[in-house]
Amino acid sequence: MKLFSRFKNSTIGSSIRYSIKPRKVKFEWQDTPVDWIPEQPFISYFINEINMILPAGEFWFCRLYNKVLPQIQDPKLKEDVQAFIRQEAMHAQAHNSANKEYLTVRNINIQRNLNVMDFLFGELLADAPLGLKVPKTLEHQWDLFRLGIVATVEHMTCVLGKYVLYNNEWEKLGADASMLDLVKWHGAEEIEHRTVAFDLYRHLGGGYIARYYLSVVVIVAVLGLWVDGSAHIMKQDPRFKSIRPAVYKPWVWREWYRISQKDHNLMPNPFWLISQQLGYLMPWYDPLHEAKTEDAITYLERSPAAKRAILKVA
Ligand SMILES: [Fe+2]
Ligand SMILES: [Fe+2]
Repeated sequence: MKLFSRFKNSTIGSSIRYSIKPRKVKFEWQDTPVDWIPEQPFISYFINEINMILPAGEFWFCRLYNKVLPQIQDPKLKEDVQAFIRQEAMHAQAHNSANKEYLTVRNINIQRNLNVMDFLFGELLADAPLGLKVPKTLEHQWDLFRLGIVATVEHMTCVLGKYVLYNNEWEKLGADASMLDLVKWHGAEEIEHRTVAFDLYRHLGGGYIARYYLSVVVIVAVLGLWVDGSAHIMKQDPRFKSIRPAVYKPWVWREWYRISQKDHNLMPNPFWLISQQLGYLMPWYDPLHEAKTEDAITYLERSPAAKRAILKVA
């Protein structure tokens, strides 16, 4: 068994030659309105919900990756994973700053949504799920299952990263510069580190077939949590009072679909998002071919939040 895993480690390492660069960022939220895309409250709330969804998950990635770090045999992959951890920790901090300095200050109650994510990543998917200690013999399988979830989620964040990076429509509608920079900076770094989770999953013995059920679990969870959280913050707004959006009511799903049908650049179509998972299921899937690193780097070099952080340090 040990020999087998050593064989795997020596064959699948890092699939990139470039170095992933962790960057510091500084966002300023004092001028960002709730409708950060003017006259588009539904889209604004929907994208704002990612601030609540992401931090708990990204800190969980960091904890899990730090746990398996000593098992990595390939030095370049180890370097990729360390840079990935630093990038994800910075993403989580940036979205947390939006939660604290923007949404909470605008009197939006976000605690319930944060609690859902804390339960999922702090309890259910923890090293000891729901406080139950995983037997030593199953520990590697439990880690591998969770690494598979990260790899599947990272495919989706790469897809969404491309979507936001090339999106010009929000800007045309007069979107707030800070929120726009937050999603584009995050999306660009997701593209930059798109190979890491998949490489690590395979390096530690993750198999092909598991991608099928992991895709189903991840798609259902991401869409469900996104719509549920968005509905919760939307229903606090008097403009949605008569509708009282909820995940179990068709309205919020229909509205998402309707807006995305009108223009895919306003919101990604939910069926398109599901279809993007198909590429990940192909045996020849290679995250390197999913996006262009140079486009991501071009944005990262001019991101206002990254420039602001450099100025602050200087
Ligand atoms: Fe991230
Ligand atoms: Fe990521």
